Amino acid sequence: MKRYITTPIYYVNDVPHIGHAYTTIIADFLKRFYTLRGDESFFLTGTDEHGQKIEQSAQARGKTPMQYATEVSEKFRTLWDEFDIDYDHFIRTTDDYHIKAVQLAFSKMLEKGDIYKGEYEGQYCISCESFFTTTQLKEGRFCPDCGKPTSEVKEESYFFALSKYQDKLLKWYESNPILPSYRQNEVINFVKNGLNDLSITRTTFEWGIEIPSQKEGEKKHIIYVWLDALLNYVSALGYGGSEERMHLWEGAIHLVGKDILRFHAIYWPAFLLSLDIPLPKKIYAHGWWLNEGKKMSKSIGNVIDPKKVSDEFGNDVFRFFLLREVPFGQDGDFSLNALVDRINSELSNDLGNLLNRLIGMSEKYFSLSLSSNKAQEFFPTECKELENTITQALTLVENAHFHRYLEEVWKIFSLCNTMIARYEPWSLMKNGESEKTQALLVFLCNALYKGTLLFAPIMPTTAQKIADSLGIEIAPSEFKKMIDHHSFKEHFRIEKIAPLFPKIEKKEEKVQESKEEIKKEENKTPQIKIDDFFLSDLRVGEVLECKNVEGSEKLLLFQVDLGEQKPRQIISGIAQYYNPQDLIGTQVCVVANLKPAKLMGIVSEGMILSVKDENGLKLIIPQEKRKNGSKIG
Ligand code: ME8
Ligand code: MG
Repeated sequence: MKRYITTPIYYVNDVPHIGHAYTTIIADFLKRFYTLRGDESFFLTGTDEHGQKIEQSAQARGKTPMQYATEVSEKFRTLWDEFDIDYDHFIRTTDDYHIKAVQLAFSKMLEKGDIYKGEYEGQYCISCESFFTTTQLKEGRFCPDCGKPTSEVKEESYFFALSKYQDKLLKWYESNPILPSYRQNEVINFVKNGLNDLSITRTTFEWGIEIPSQKEGEKKHIIYVWLDALLNYVSALGYGGSEERMHLWEGAIHLVGKDILRFHAIYWPAFLLSLDIPLPKKIYAHGWWLNEGKKMSKSIGNVIDPKKVSDEFGNDVFRFFLLREVPFGQDGDFSLNALVDRINSELSNDLGNLLNRLIGMSEKYFSLSLSSNKAQEFFPTECKELENTITQALTLVENAHFHRYLEEVWKIFSLCNTMIARYEPWSLMKNGESEKTQALLVFLCNALYKGTLLFAPIMPTTAQKIADSLGIEIAPSEFKKMIDHHSFKEHFRIEKIAPLFPKIEKKEEKVQESKEEIKKEENKTPQIKIDDFFLSDLRVGEVLECKNVEGSEKLLLFQVDLGEQKPRQIISGIAQYYNPQDLIGTQVCVVANLKPAKLMGIVSEGMILSVKDENGLKLIIPQEKRKNGSKIG
């Protein structure tokens, strides 16, 4: 069977965090799982580098988009290498073959009559690179997906006839390509409400792929970044070029977060239909990692660095935790306490101790050399239970129930631990039942072997350690024998190894500490009279410009329109929580009569108000736009 596993290609305006690691690790799990099952597997990841958002991010940092994209793309690639992610190809949308493929696809859609020219008028969220009608916006101006202010767009544009594909899409959903099914239902409802044709070119910025059929004297049209990005899934296989890997397409499984399911489940299949390319086999949409209930994202400033967690606890443990902790599809709150709990119970107790006891008993009773062909004969019920558990586990992967898959695999280790408690090998030996004891230990070795093959795709290093200890191999041929054919091995020569997962002591969670600190601060505040309050001149003003202060990680430099003759230059320490370009056009609250001060050699003529809690800083923004310079109080 062919398996083509993809992650989203990540935007290069953000450094990688746990959310990106999550998707990539699940994809890596699937790649390794299917490879071990003997399937022809290919795993694609990469970076999404065009569009207005990247152009602005680069500008704010004083770099060319290409320089900037190359830098951040490298960060993603390095991180995946450090995490030992087994990807087969890393695509950048700035790669030549991709650009050619996108232009070819555009021409084909044009030929097919699916593209026409018109004028787009509506709202655009630069952060999501997504179009909205005014009625879709939150409170008239905010993006319904990410909550940031949108910008008005009115420009000449080519459109893709999305509406034409509504019925074909609805038909496709009947084959249940999207998992979990509640996400598929959301998509179906959305499509049933009616699809608008999609604007697929922009003319007001430069950074992207030009349309192929650009006419003399016509405005320069740049292909919409989502059309460009989605096509990566086929350009990476050689679409529009060598076609060398297109045979893998029939096994396509797209892994995405729920934030971008609409693009993958509606636009993408419609584009494919237009191009006469078969539709992907599956789309798996997972939930979000939250921190204290909020989506982890760089702009909120609440991200957890996956490298730090994996350096502290180990890569295998981190991978196991991500897959095991949260039901696939749902949101999960990342907590180090929960991670430590899983290490101590499932990894250290259930698995680690099992191996220790097995080594101990094998050494004590049989000098580390086990041999029996009676394991199944002595323990027929347990044998059946083991087979059933394995069969059940395998179907769970096909249904994207990855957490339940691991839960099921761990039933194998529970079965082993229960057998030790029940049959008491030490009593058997005392009663002279050495044959049964040896059969029991061989059964345990077989069960551990099978369990290890099943979790190897998520904890490859641990699996190899166990394989070394039991003298077994993690390979497709073994998977076939031990898992598909439920075979039993009769001889084991055991090597002693150090405990796999030493117990870990719980630490106070950092988040808790900062809550305490905030409480302390609150208690210290003295009372003031109303007149004291009115000594400060608070006003609203619009951010005209905003960029990073060179050489500082914390500071942003603002030009704020307070309705005066000249904009105010103000420095604010919120760079860790915002992308500067996202703030342009936003109204903020300013202390306007603060004595000017110099920060890093730059004069700051006021202070921008923000709110602080354990999640960091957030600007205070008027609920509705007001005249610049209006007084607050
Ligand atoms: O959307 N929890 O790129 P992106 C879980 N370039 N997953 C998360 C997450 C979180 N808090 N935050 C991010 C784009 N992710 C486009 C994709 S594909 C043709 C183009 C993961 O950098 C999750 O997989 O914003 C989400 O869908 C993806 O990162 C979004 O990455
Ligand atoms: Mg995003």
